[in-house]
Amino acid sequence: MTFYYKLGTIPHKRHTQFRQPDGSLYHEELIGTLGFSGVQSLLYHLHPPTQVQQVALERTVDVPYEERKVLCHRHLRTKSVAKGGDAIAARVPLTGNAAVCLSVARPTETMPYWYRRDRGDDIIFIHEGNGILESQYGTLPYQPGDYLVIPTGVLWRLLPDLDNEQRMLVIEASGHIQPPKRYLNAYGQFLEHAPYCERDIRPPETLVTHDEMGEFEVRIKGRGCISRYLYRHHPLDVVGWDGHLWPFAFNIHDFEPVTGRVHQPPPVHQTFAGPGFVLCSFVPRLFDYHPQAIPAPYNHSNVDSDEVIYYVEGNFMSRKGIERASITLHPSGIPHGPHPGCYEESIGKERTEELAIMIDTFHPLNLTAKALPFEDETYPYSWTIQH
Ligand SMILES: [Fe+2]
Repeated sequence: MTFYYKLGTIPHKRHTQFRQPDGSLYHEELIGTLGFSGVQSLLYHLHPPTQVQQVALERTVDVPYEERKVLCHRHLRTKSVAKGGDAIAARVPLTGNAAVCLSVARPTETMPYWYRRDRGDDIIFIHEGNGILESQYGTLPYQPGDYLVIPTGVLWRLLPDLDNEQRMLVIEASGHIQPPKRYLNAYGQFLEHAPYCERDIRPPETLVTHDEMGEFEVRIKGRGCISRYLYRHHPLDVVGWDGHLWPFAFNIHDFEPVTGRVHQPPPVHQTFAGPGFVLCSFVPRLFDYHPQAIPAPYNHSNVDSDEVIYYVEGNFMSRKGIERASITLHPSGIPHGPHPGCYEESIGKERTEELAIMIDTFHPLNLTAKALPFEDETYPYSWTIQH
């Protein structure tokens, strides 16, 4: 991540003797990216994190893509996706490529195990529900509108408040998630023009050290399977850590929109950069203020991208027939724009209450077979006025 943070107790000097009350040493673990050249954090465990008792296959992970017969715009109505399972089991993968996989999830259970990715960071966007992101780095309460950004190697689980409905959009990246470089100065600090800054990023709040023995399960997702690791000690046995690599929450409502005299293009809404994709947040904002402005976007052919929009709340100004938790996929710059009437209707409006997330990928996306039951097959013709 972007700045130094620490929780718990750490020694004055790294890689020196740091002893437990019984005189034994705490056990260091350096978790870092890019082969000791990226961001990293140094954790201090009660027990060596290497002491696994058993490794076994939990299940293979296969994302069957549809056999594409025609290239066209797609619309998925995911509002009615089935509830059930924990935050991993509940994921329904809908579209993806080698760089990124997008799923929705409506979990109804607490994860009885901890989880980490083999390669790549996760973003979990909380559409509905509250709870806690628990990790080796501490506990982090979450709420609607939060992006939970969980770097590779973080050992975590979700503890949803099961009295609330839970609805999430999950973005599994094949590499690391960063703020756009143009928001940062040469020292890594957010610049004044950035639509959010360090103050908006919520690190883990409280470090809870578990000194318990028993049987504890960690699941690692990667290389086409989920592997099960069993330990005798509780995996969240960290007494302190410091560094730049840690999970965080950033709420979409803390994104300060950039507006202009005329329509501003999607890059002004960019929130994160990932390998092979960008993520943008469309948030409630004042419309354009040129006296002749047309606030709705112009038709466009963004030829090098596939564009996904997840519709969160409010009326999306340029679309009709879209509902909460709808997902549209506009591939390969096939022309698209406002639906009939939306262009004219936007003129003179002062503000929009739309809340949506856009993920533009630089390689083609495929729909999964699991996406097809949610498809609105009339969508490719929704711009056409029938006479
Ligand atoms: Fe677009």
